[in-house]
Amino acid sequence: MSDTVAKAVEKMVAFYEEESTMVVHDVNHFMKVWGFARTIGTLEGLDPETQETLELAAVAHDIACPLCRRKYGAADGRHQELEGEGLTREFYQGFGLPEEQLDRICYIVAHHHSFTGVDGLDYQVMLEADFLVNADESDVSREGILSFREKVFRTATGLRLLDQMYGL
Ligand SMILES: [Fe+2]
Repeated sequence: MSDTVAKAVEKMVAFYEEESTMVVHDVNHFMKVWGFARTIGTLEGLDPETQETLELAAVAHDIACPLCRRKYGAADGRHQELEGEGLTREFYQGFGLPEEQLDRICYIVAHHHSFTGVDGLDYQVMLEADFLVNADESDVSREGILSFREKVFRTATGLRLLDQMYGL
């Protein structure tokens, strides 16, 4: 794990401590999603920069949830899309990330509920990692999992993990 990612994890825990009414849930969620993102990205052979972009996006992917719960009463995809980009940009200020990488991280965070227009492996793996966790946390039915598998999953590693975990 890069120092930058470790720093991001530490800061994300502090962020949820400050902002969230469900700190343990939110921290456990992003740590699991990040773990899958890291694993899939590594096994799929992402180059080091794309891997770091993916991991930094995974750490911060639900950054807008506490604000959306407060402001809109729910953390649905549309509202997260609205708030995610600005919060992510602010969160990663001071990390010294190249502008282009920061833009990409913000884009992935803001779009992690959009399943069309996936334009890179970092984005693709983000979606797969989040679903591997959400399928369990949200008790998604077998049909729901199969349909998401068909529509969204693409990487061999993501597909393998999904099949192994959910007995497909
Ligand atoms: Fe998530």
